[in-house]
Amino acid sequence: KVVDVYSGVAELGPYRHFMQKEIFEQPRAISDTLQGLESITPDLFGAQASAVLHKADSVLILACGTSYYAGLTAKYWLESIAKIPVEVEIASEYRYRDSVPSENKLVVTISQSGETADTLAALRHARELGMAHSLTICNVATSAMVRECELAYITRAGVEIGVASTKAFTTQLTALFLLTLAIAKVRGRLAPEQEAEHMKLLRHLPVAVSAVLALEPQIIAWAEEFSRHDDALFLGRGIHYPIALEGALKLKEISYIHAEAYPAGELKHGPLALVTDKMPVVTIAPNDDLLEKLKSNMQEVRARGGQLYVFADSDTKIVSEEGIHVIRMPENYGLLSPILHVIPLQLLAYHTALVRGTDVDKPRNLAKSVTVE
Ligand code: AGP
Repeated sequence: KVVDVYSGVAELGPYRHFMQKEIFEQPRAISDTLQGLESITPDLFGAQASAVLHKADSVLILACGTSYYAGLTAKYWLESIAKIPVEVEIASEYRYRDSVPSENKLVVTISQSGETADTLAALRHARELGMAHSLTICNVATSAMVRECELAYITRAGVEIGVASTKAFTTQLTALFLLTLAIAKVRGRLAPEQEAEHMKLLRHLPVAVSAVLALEPQIIAWAEEFSRHDDALFLGRGIHYPIALEGALKLKEISYIHAEAYPAGELKHGPLALVTDKMPVVTIAPNDDLLEKLKSNMQEVRARGGQLYVFADSDTKIVSEEGIHVIRMPENYGLLSPILHVIPLQLLAYHTALVRGTDVDKPRNLAKSVTVE
């Protein structure tokens, strides 16, 4: 049991760790974050949101860690759907960088705790540079971040106890997709039928996430093998590259395996030298327009004896064979595919850490909220 600062005592229930509980709470957390929405209105983000979103001619996303990876994912949505330029910056870098401000840039901060010192400092730095409009995607309504931003969307993930962020990440992505639709709408880039289609996919998301959670037994079978390695490589392309980054961070954080992520097309520019049969290569393989390119990247790995562990959408025709281990995901989920593809990576990190016997909820050297520099 943990006495959490927001609502008394959080119970483990049937789970072994809070992280496992929070992974399995994601369907409910996403559903709560959607609040039964039927349509998109800027007012979701606050009373002044319509005027602010109209004025914005670009977006600057500031965040750290997992929240930064949510920002990187949102960039693909915002630029492809809302056609608005997006910069995503690591908060601890931005706050000291001599950047070029512009007054109609909307500053978006992403923070589970709303108390991360680097992200708060980056927000204040942007304001000092004259960027007055800010919006936060945050999980704690009573946090400093929500107080200091003009607009806010509060995710309803509930208290997240595990240091390694899981349900906060997928509810951040849910909220960022809503923000994308709201900006697209005020910029005249969201037709009613498109809005209805996106909202239908969003409403079905909790069910789709539940289906992916059912893959846990297959992932447990991989964890034994993963736990024996000290290095791992995560590959993704396009909007799934930030998901590969998040998967690598999860494994690093709680199993202490040195995991890194690469855009799959970048392998031949160096990282391929690392590939041997001693380093598992996790590959995110959605059935999107980059699939054929990804398949050739997979061959590059296989040709060097690399062991591939592939999460493949069911319609990709990627099959298990020598050196290629495949767990089949459901049908491709379109623009929301990144939210589905992070789930097995969370489970892989969790079960690998279990085998390695690390402190899953409180990994060494880490704090849940980094309120100092
Ligand atoms: C994620 O698993 C980590 N706990 C860490 O990277 C975290 O995302 C980062 O410290 C940002 O925290 P925040 O979302 O509360 O600002």
